[in-house]
Amino acid sequence: MCGIVGYVGPQACAPILLDGLRRLEYRGYDSAGLAVHAPGGRIEVRRAVGKLRNLESALREKPLEGAVGIGHTRWATHGRPSEVNAHPHVAGDVAVVHNGIIENHMPLRRELEEAGCTIASDTDTELVAHLVEREVQQGKDLEAAVRAALGRLEGAYAIAVLSAKEPERIVVAKSASPLVIGLGEGEMFCASDIPALLPYTRDMLFMEDGEMAVLEAGSVRLTTVAGADVEREPKRIDWSPVMAEKAGYKHFMLKEIFEQPRAMEDTLRGRLDREHGDVHGHEIGLSEEDAKGIRRVLLLACGTSHHATIAGKYFLEEIAKVPAVIEIASEFRGREAVVGEGDLVVAVSQSGETLDTLVAAKEAKERGAKVLAIANVIGSAIPRMADAVFYTHAGPEIGVASTKCFSTQLANLLMLSVWLGRRRGAITAERSRELVEGLARLPTTMKDVLQGTRQLVANLARRYVDARDVLYLGRGLSFPIALEGALKLKEISYVHAEGYPAGEMKHGPIALIDSSVPAIVLVPRDRHWERSISNLQEAKAREAIVIAVATEGDEEARQVSHDLIEIPAVDEVLTPFLTVLPLQLYAYYVADFKGTDVDQPRNLAKTVTVE
Ligand code: M6R
Repeated sequence: MCGIVGYVGPQACAPILLDGLRRLEYRGYDSAGLAVHAPGGRIEVRRAVGKLRNLESALREKPLEGAVGIGHTRWATHGRPSEVNAHPHVAGDVAVVHNGIIENHMPLRRELEEAGCTIASDTDTELVAHLVEREVQQGKDLEAAVRAALGRLEGAYAIAVLSAKEPERIVVAKSASPLVIGLGEGEMFCASDIPALLPYTRDMLFMEDGEMAVLEAGSVRLTTVAGADVEREPKRIDWSPVMAEKAGYKHFMLKEIFEQPRAMEDTLRGRLDREHGDVHGHEIGLSEEDAKGIRRVLLLACGTSHHATIAGKYFLEEIAKVPAVIEIASEFRGREAVVGEGDLVVAVSQSGETLDTLVAAKEAKERGAKVLAIANVIGSAIPRMADAVFYTHAGPEIGVASTKCFSTQLANLLMLSVWLGRRRGAITAERSRELVEGLARLPTTMKDVLQGTRQLVANLARRYVDARDVLYLGRGLSFPIALEGALKLKEISYVHAEGYPAGEMKHGPIALIDSSVPAIVLVPRDRHWERSISNLQEAKAREAIVIAVATEGDEEARQVSHDLIEIPAVDEVLTPFLTVLPLQLYAYYVADFKGTDVDQPRNLAKTVTVE
């Protein structure tokens, strides 16, 4: 769960590596470092604990010169955050950066210590540096030395390696952690993720597990770890570098909240068949016959993506009339879950790299299920292992708190439901047309909601910023939104929040309510409205501060709540796309008023590739 970057070419590499690390800081930010081939045939290293700015200060004091180098931003897994545990790790003439976890690090450490190696850090990565160094000592070139060392490793890694003896190249390798190679003119790059490379190139080569590559200024040679040549066409990535920047917003999260109408437009583009009131389903990877034969859909995900799958279950059951089961990926994996042929597993993940979701989907596939990935990062691990992939086109999401990816995941799950519903004869052409038209209008409606509620929500956040607990309540499709609103508030403002099905409140959480607790109650005009209003009144009767999210013109909701946030009237299936927006804004403003690190909240990382 770290970020790695590498550069080989004619330019001074330190500023390029730092720039790449800045764009990868969302992957981890407890220490950072660079290793560069310095003039005179030496590798020089600078490392610093804490955020990247500390490394930048270290480099201002002692600059690094050189045109070939590697960099790393860390999220600690083995060994606490400290300078000695920061990457790059050096052994003799070899320097290594690594993202992942070497599972057999304990026997390797014992073996290396018995062989006389002095191991300075607590990390698993330093062991890789020693393994490569020992191979180099025995006369192997860097590529062969890395290949031999990889044969000793168990676990997940993306690594980039330098050797002082070969100052013109970087050797990289990948297994279960992401790594992409950027192809420039007379220069080559590598990084854990695309945004790090966008200012320099749009031509990317995605490495597969079990592959390694030798990067030189004018060439890339891709092979398997076993040594066989690999031919692969690069992909052109259309994201502009500006898309990966803050574009004038104070935080990435706020920018990404306001990008949702655009993200939705991009995600819907080319997929709605408005002529026939249908969805183009070729990416779903199922024949019409397969669609009819599906016994059940199993939705696997974690965190915010899991909340999207709860809405997905409701969409699938209502629109496609197919039984749907939701599983938190970490709870599914390793269990004797009943899954197999006839099941469609939908693995939903923004990053496409979440280890729990990846492993759970693999287990389901091994037992005979078909796997459809819904992911945002092109070429990431989950899409690669899946039978088919239905990408969200939200663009890079940098804020650790997921926003635009959540709404685009909802869109893909709804499109999947409509496509299946039509194939299975579960909805009429008329209903399908209504949904397709509703989806097509969403970008404009979402824009109106964001603009129309921003100031009001900021005022509410200011008023209730000191609340120690917040309750979020919703029924039906508003329940996953209540969960999502609570998660957003927890993760960026560190305020305790609970999301509950409104009907469950009386079975326990009602005891939490007193006059200091804001209850954000979702009461859009849907089939649950009357009962939701009753729940709202129950909360109010216990003196909660009631903030209602209701449909425009709902006088009853206005009368029974202290504060009211209005959303336009839409088809009830589409309400989650709108009700989530003020909740995202509320969490954002509370966090901003509290002065927390909104984009990189404590203890979290954007991509969770550990168990
Ligand atoms: O990349 P994924 O969608 O698989 O990530 C899953 C969760 O780690 C993620 O949604 C997490 O809960 C976010 N911090 C939520 O904002």
